[in-house]
Amino acid sequence: MGAVHHKAKSLSLGMIGGGEGAFIGGVHRAAIALDGRFELVAGAFSSSVERSLSSALAIGLGEGRGFANLAAMVDGMSEHPLRAVSIVTPNFRHCEQVVAAANAGLAIFCEKPLACTLQEARVMAAAVRRAQVPFAVAHVYSGFPMVAQAKYLVASGMLGKIRRADVVYLQGWLAQPIELDGQKQAGWRTDPKLAGAGASGDIATHAHHLLEHVTGDTLSHLSARQSSLVEGRLIDDDVSMLGEMASGARVTLTASQIAIGRANGLTISIYGDRGSISWQQEDPDVLWLCPDEQPEQRWIAGSDKGYLTEEARSMCRTPSGHPRGFIEAFANLYGDFADQVESRSPSGRYPGLQEAVRGMAFLDALAKSSNANGAWTQIEDVKL
Ligand SMILES: NC(=O)c1ccc[n+]([C@@H]2O[C@H](COP(=O)([O-])OP(=O)(O)OC[C@H]3O[C@@H](n4cnc5c(N)ncnc54)[C@H](O)[C@@H]3O)[C@@H](O)[C@H]2O)c1
Repeated sequence: MGAVHHKAKSLSLGMIGGGEGAFIGGVHRAAIALDGRFELVAGAFSSSVERSLSSALAIGLGEGRGFANLAAMVDGMSEHPLRAVSIVTPNFRHCEQVVAAANAGLAIFCEKPLACTLQEARVMAAAVRRAQVPFAVAHVYSGFPMVAQAKYLVASGMLGKIRRADVVYLQGWLAQPIELDGQKQAGWRTDPKLAGAGASGDIATHAHHLLEHVTGDTLSHLSARQSSLVEGRLIDDDVSMLGEMASGARVTLTASQIAIGRANGLTISIYGDRGSISWQQEDPDVLWLCPDEQPEQRWIAGSDKGYLTEEARSMCRTPSGHPRGFIEAFANLYGDFADQVESRSPSGRYPGLQEAVRGMAFLDALAKSSNANGAWTQIEDVKL
């Protein structure tokens, strides 16, 4: 059996966004409850105070625990001060909310992409650095045990020199213009002013983060084509990219939200000169390892055979054969964030400010390349 965290629930947390009808806020709440180190005590769950109050009641927080914004929440909770906030609002709200939370001295767990533009990201990073508050970003795929194992295998040299990586992230839910029918999540995601970028920001940033996380290398330059394949859509819903890592390894990255039949098809494959690995988000307990000239090996989360690292084991809350998923991966990130908050450390084991800002530099380079007909473009190495 993997490790289950036994530390007492002691860290009070407020949520911004995640009101009734929202997507990811509920996932964060389930993960927070599963990990058990934070206690959600209040929220500015919506920009409308009425909806915020009714959302607080609906999730069982009781009367008066819904607020209009962060300032009102900090004020209203002064007798039970908050230690941290989770920011789960649409992208265009992240900048003002992260800056306000940092200025209030709160630890921050922010959704991705960090912001709408690289310029906003710089402003946010400066505020977080100035305040020296713990910061984590929700690149949830780093919370899966077999991703940790994949990262270890690459770092251990088992694959030899990495020569190539392919990351594919395919979804089909935006294959039709559902934003025109009032679908809430599609509405802001397809508005350039509210989302910043389309499929690039929504899912290619996850693919980019996973690539750098597992390889331990950085994507240095790229050639990209962003397309709006649904007629009339004002934002990209499809991205194809060629890239090169700092080590010289070649990369392809594909992200699309018009791929009918695909739900959340994220796959990463890494090829060294002595072997390869492949991991699929929709079958997350399995990591395929293929050493050169040996049969393929199916490594599994929760295995008691002793080949998993301590980190990967600690991320498994159930034994092998009892599948893990998205909420547990989020819970692993929250466990790490709790460690950060308790030790007052600006960064943790999983993605933080540096990775969040790198995601925005990646988006900036994608757009520049695509606007220049796929010209090779360097990704800015933003110094924090
Ligand atoms: N890490 C992941 O895997 C993952 C998955 C889904 C979404 N996300 C990210 O999470 C964020 C939210 O996405 P979603 O799909 O849950 O959106 P959503 O539209 O379902 O929910 C957004 C919520 O924020 C609230 N909100 C908007 N403005 C607000 C304000 N000023 N103050 C307080 N609340 C406000 C809305 O009322 C709503 O409750 C986005 O940044 C998105 O990219 C990440």
